[in-house]
Amino acid sequence: MTEIKITSTPACEESIIICEKGAFRRSHGNMVFTDSNVYRIYKKEIDALALPVHVMQAGESNKNEETLFALLSAMADAGLHRKDTLLCVGGGVVGDIGGLAAALYMRGINCVQVPTTLLSQVDSSVGGKTAIDFKGIKNLVGVFRQPREVLVDAMFLRTLPEREIVCGLGEIIKHGALHEPLFDKLFSNADRLFDLTFLEEIVPQNIALKADVVQKDAHETDLRKCLNMGHTTGHALELYEKTRSHGEYVLIGMLYEIELAKMTADCDEEYLNDLKGLILRVLKNNQLPSACKAARFAALDKKNATSDLISFVAPVAKGHYMLKEIAYDEYVALLKRAEENLI
Ligand code: NAD
Ligand code: GLY
Repeated sequence: MTEIKITSTPACEESIIICEKGAFRRSHGNMVFTDSNVYRIYKKEIDALALPVHVMQAGESNKNEETLFALLSAMADAGLHRKDTLLCVGGGVVGDIGGLAAALYMRGINCVQVPTTLLSQVDSSVGGKTAIDFKGIKNLVGVFRQPREVLVDAMFLRTLPEREIVCGLGEIIKHGALHEPLFDKLFSNADRLFDLTFLEEIVPQNIALKADVVQKDAHETDLRKCLNMGHTTGHALELYEKTRSHGEYVLIGMLYEIELAKMTADCDEEYLNDLKGLILRVLKNNQLPSACKAARFAALDKKNATSDLISFVAPVAKGHYMLKEIAYDEYVALLKRAEENLI
């Protein structure tokens, strides 16, 4: 078992992360929130908890105010009190909406996260970012609030379709681009990236890495911005195209931002080519979309754009990155050149 404790600054909220096969058996709370796919596959295990269950229709397109308010309404109907706990069993969509509902209900009740996708185990369940998409902008409405507990159980990875493994690998490779030992491990195990035993082995390392960043900068004033690598262009494409999943857009966003890094910073090109190779290996023969067409959505993302400047995280050498800010017109021109190299 790996147990990681986050005491985040400045909020001083505590979060305990337990990473263990069978961790789901420790689940506790007063109501379960899950999605239609997870409930279909794990009905027996969830019903065994003998709690009221609220099920949302699975999918990013439902990460919206209707789903949030339907959940709040179910929480009120179930008579949840201030000392009660909402148990969120699902991927990043369930975790983000459930975390926000728990933060809003009675000005904040406890939340326990049971992440069931690779992406949510290594990334979204850890760190207290909660949100819904609103007015066509990703994660526009949300709060920072740490879950009381995160229970990470490898059992859930066994039922994931390969595409969801790709998505989780998006955030794992992003972590690798920030941390040299993880990059070396991924690079030297490139032929085992889809091997569940290997993935189970590296989940705790990814959680520890993210927990360390969150502990130092829970509210993303500086250090945590590094976790947005690939997300400026990735989120823009996600809003423009809406046909792939978040993690796939992170991988594609990273490919573009590697090219941007090469054009705007002093980089270790050999390392960047290795990083690119790892990403392409995971994306397989996926046809890359045009980022130029999506660029205007990067300007809408308040996290990545101030006035007419676009910011992105440029990987420059093993374990090293730079926060870059460039004018919107330059961003579009660079994406155009990047596209010539990539598509
Ligand atoms: P998701 O929650 O939509 O799950 C992906 C799919 O897998 C869904 O169809 C779901 O029903 C299904 N699924 C879940 N668990 C399963 C299991 N064990 N077996 C079979 N199928 C299963 O997507 P995701 O990739 O987990 O998360 C993406 C979301 O997370 C995005 O909305 C993104 O913005 C958000 N996110 C948040 C943070 C954060 O810090 N809060 C970080 C990264 C991403
Ligand atoms: N996934 C980015 C973050 O949690 O900050």
